[in-house]
Amino acid sequence: MSPVYYNEEAFSALTKWIADQQYSKVFILVDTNTEAHCLPVIQTKLSKPDEFEVLVIPAGETHKNIQVSEQLWQQLSDRGADRKSLLINLGGGVVTDIGGFVAATFRRGIHFINIPTSLLAMVDAAIGGKTGVDLGVLKNQVGVILQPQMVLVITKFLKTLATRQVANGKAEMYKHGLIFDAHYWSELTGDNGDIDTHIRRSVEIKNEIVAQDLTENGLRKVLNFGHTLGHAIESHFLERKDIPLYHGEAIIAGMILEGYLSNRLTGLAQHQLIEITDAFNQGYAKIDFTPTDIKAICDLLKFDKKNTHGHVNFVLLTQIGAATFDVKVPDDMIQKAFAYYKEA
Ligand SMILES: NC(=O)c1ccc[n+]([C@@H]2O[C@H](COP(=O)([O-])OP(=O)(O)OC[C@H]3O[C@@H](n4cnc5c(N)ncnc54)[C@H](O)[C@@H]3O)[C@@H](O)[C@H]2O)c1
Ligand SMILES: [Zn+2]
Repeated sequence: MSPVYYNEEAFSALTKWIADQQYSKVFILVDTNTEAHCLPVIQTKLSKPDEFEVLVIPAGETHKNIQVSEQLWQQLSDRGADRKSLLINLGGGVVTDIGGFVAATFRRGIHFINIPTSLLAMVDAAIGGKTGVDLGVLKNQVGVILQPQMVLVITKFLKTLATRQVANGKAEMYKHGLIFDAHYWSELTGDNGDIDTHIRRSVEIKNEIVAQDLTENGLRKVLNFGHTLGHAIESHFLERKDIPLYHGEAIIAGMILEGYLSNRLTGLAQHQLIEITDAFNQGYAKIDFTPTDIKAICDLLKFDKKNTHGHVNFVLLTQIGAATFDVKVPDDMIQKAFAYYKEA
């Protein structure tokens, strides 16, 4: 796995790494927001900032595509990048995903470093080596798995991140507690410890899971807790357009629904289900699913089924802090889960 450095230590690790590697050129990829809020911070920390070339893409998921990748390949080429160049990705998950993909494919692969600037990217997207872009409406259809040379987590970047984006990233942190570490879950929900400590724990958990299963044949699947229904919910509301839902918000609903399934199928105790539901209802707005929404979401799951030989496999909890995967769930149980969500 790539080494992860934090805060002040991160700047010295970066400076030393660049000096040691003697790169022909160093490029920094930003989006329009991280160009304004994060790039100046990095530039003041670099000893020779003029030696860095900046590449800018427009902010937002819609730009995480192959056309923008092509523009980046072209700019790298025009500006003299060669196999010994470095790409630093400074941004949220969109920048680390597309930047990693562009680096992994340019001249059959150049070094890249991730400097995540959103909470979601710090605890999730920048870690684990998955890179890629969307293909039309299909998310992350094209990409490769390649680890960055290092990941630098500089938590002061979170100061300029919108509150809703912070809650978005926090959803994945709750997930890490639920699938892997009951003590961490209670720290998060009890508001014990500071965000820096929590970020470190989430990074450790994701790294540990990924290291044991680099190609997602087994254990890594547990990172998909809340995501089977969560992704269907996310896609459905993307189509509805009148209710823009963030990924993390869809995953929170997914974790309550799959928590219910865990209670029915894999032994999650009733009081733990209630604990999870209450924690999420406190921090996140409830989604008002109409019967039409529920039907559409279940249809999306069936579409998923086609891609997995006839059944959707769920990751479910056996207790807070432990998960099991490849669980098959009967259709009527999913209806009951939505009924529980509405009531709870
Ligand atoms: N590779 C993986 O394993 C993995 C895992 C999870 C998510 N992802 C991907 O990550 C993406 C989502 O990541 P995201 O939520 O970071 O989205 P994002 O990159 O779009 O960032 C969210 C918004 O916050 C802005 N922003 C980022 N940092 C900021 C800062 N410090 N100050 C002010 N504004 C800032 C961005 O410009 C953007 O507008 C998705 O494309 C998803 O597919 C990848
Ligand atoms: Zn997620």
